[in-house]
Formats: sequence, structure tokens, C-alpha cells
Amino acid sequence: MQTEKQAHHEPVLLKEVLEGLDVKEGGVYVDGTVGLAGHSLAILERSSPTGFLYGFEWNEETYDIALERLKPYEGRFKLYKENFAKIPEILNQEGVLADGVLLDLGVSSFLLEGVGRGFSFKRDEPLDMRMSQTLGITASDVLNRLSLSELAKVFEEGEVPKAFFFAKFICEQRKRAPFTRTVDLVQAVKAFYKGRRDLNDLLAVVFQSLRIKVNKELENLEIALKGIPSILKKGGRLAVISFHSLEDRLVKLSFRNDPRFKVLTKKPITPSPEEVRRNPRARSAKLRIAERV
Ligand SMILES: C[S@@+](CC[C@H](N)C(=O)[O-])C[C@H]1O[C@@H](n2cnc3c(N)ncnc32)[C@H](O)[C@@H]1O
Repeated sequence: MQTEKQAHHEPVLLKEVLEGLDVKEGGVYVDGTVGLAGHSLAILERSSPTGFLYGFEWNEETYDIALERLKPYEGRFKLYKENFAKIPEILNQEGVLADGVLLDLGVSSFLLEGVGRGFSFKRDEPLDMRMSQTLGITASDVLNRLSLSELAKVFEEGEVPKAFFFAKFICEQRKRAPFTRTVDLVQAVKAFYKGRRDLNDLLAVVFQSLRIKVNKELENLEIALKGIPSILKKGGRLAVISFHSLEDRLVKLSFRNDPRFKVLTKKPITPSPEEVRRNPRARSAKLRIAERV
């Protein structure tokens, strides 16, 4: 486990998010994915001296670090150890409407490298992948317990090539020994996709498909996208950074089909080559912004 000082995550598209949300003095903002507080700190700074931030971070280790980092702004924020799907409910309880909401989806570098829960195929760790300990099912449960058709669906939805046959292969392998560690899954991917040159991409997509399932990522995003317009002021903005096509499609459709939104980004904003050089994790980021009408 990394210490508070070691934990690092470079905020993606920071300038574009601040401009897109039109952060201004005295505004009320919501960061649904506080992470290591990169965007949150910048929002608090830009909305000084009276702006207020409601932050959500459901990963326990990340929450503790974020709370520590936000301390200089004591009195100007509230941090919830909660799922961002609860933003509408909690803001309603608070009785406030927001000028801007940010969702910076997925995992942070800290979760990938610092919590030992099997998010990265590059480390030998238990196959857990729960961002929050309140979640019931781990990645090894998914691999060991789901039926063939359920597992095939997880891989199909995650856009894993040859999803059905890979699921069948996993079901055969688990009869010999259950999947408990990341290396077990890495070996299965290498054996099934033998000879493919894009093994690292395949590993990434298989791991991502399990992470999406374990953390109900698409369900949570759908709930949040439906509810957030109700807690935005007229003219308030929603900015969403997604990292894969499944999320981006959901965001695009929700922005386009919800009459409460006016889309401000016809095409998604992507990081400059300079940002990608500095922070390769940003390379697949897509930022979409909509305004509450
Ligand atoms: C990409 S990181 C955010 C990084 C952050 N913007 C920063 O600058 O440090 C995403 C964060 O959102 C959290 N997260 C993911 N899904 C969540 C959810 N449904 N509810 C609350 N937090 C979530 C993850 O634990 C992770 O810390």
C-alpha cells in the first residue's frame, strides 16, 4: 500500500475541465470521482474564496488521502464516502443545486498501483477489483462462479474478442483450479490468445471487463446521468471524462437524448499530444460537456 505522500495521480484534461465547467468565484460544484483530489483542489482554488465543493469517493484508501489533501480548504467542502450514483439523493438532502458536476470515470493510477486489489495485470495480487469494500462480488467470484452464458456476457459487454470461446476456456480452466490471483488470469489470457501480438491490449481489455462488472460501472453511470440534471442549476454544467467506448457511448447518448441537456461538445475534447507525452494514462480520455437548459 502506498503512503499518502507517495500516492500520485495526474489529473486529466484539467484546464479543459475548469473551462468546460466555467468554474467561478462562489459557485457550487460536485466532484463525483474525487480520487486524489487533483480536479477538486483546482476547482476549490478557482472558486475561491467562497465556492463550495461536494466530493464523492467510494474507495476507502483514496477517500482518506483525499480528505487529508483537501484540508487546506476546510469549511468549503464536504467529502462523502459514497457512490456517485447517490449524487442526486445527497444534494437533495443538502437542499442545494450545483453550478457544475464532474465525473472523471474509471480507476486512478493509485488504484492501479497502490492498493493491492488486482486492478493491474502487471502485478501479482489477489483478483479482487472492488473499488469499494461495500461491493459484494470480487473478480475471482465472477470468474469462478458465473455460468458460461453469464461469463460470456461479461466479456461480450467488455468487448473482449472471441468472448464466448474465452469464457468457455475459463470455465474449463476453473475445473482444475479456481482463479484467485491476477497471474492465474494472465496465464489463461496468454494460453487462449497464444500467438497474438497484441497480448497487452487483450490483457487490458479482459481485466477492464471484469472491473466494469465487479464495480457495476455502467449501471452507476447510467443512474448518475439520469439524476444529475435534477440537481443542476439552469445553465449549470456536467463534464464527464470517459476512458473507453462503452462509457463514452452512454454519455453521448444521454447528452443527446435528454431534453434537459444542451450539448456543448459536438465532438469530445481529447488531450493534447503534449499532455499524452507527460501522462500516457490520458491517451484514451474523452471529455464531453453538457449544459442544463
Ligand atoms: C480517474 S479517478 C479520479 C481522479 C481525480 N479526478 C483526480 O484528479 O485525482 C476515478 C476515481 O473515482 C472513484 N470512483 C469510481 N467509481 C466511483 C463511484 N461509482 N462512486 C464514487 N467514486 C468512484 C475511484 O475510486 C477513483 O478514485
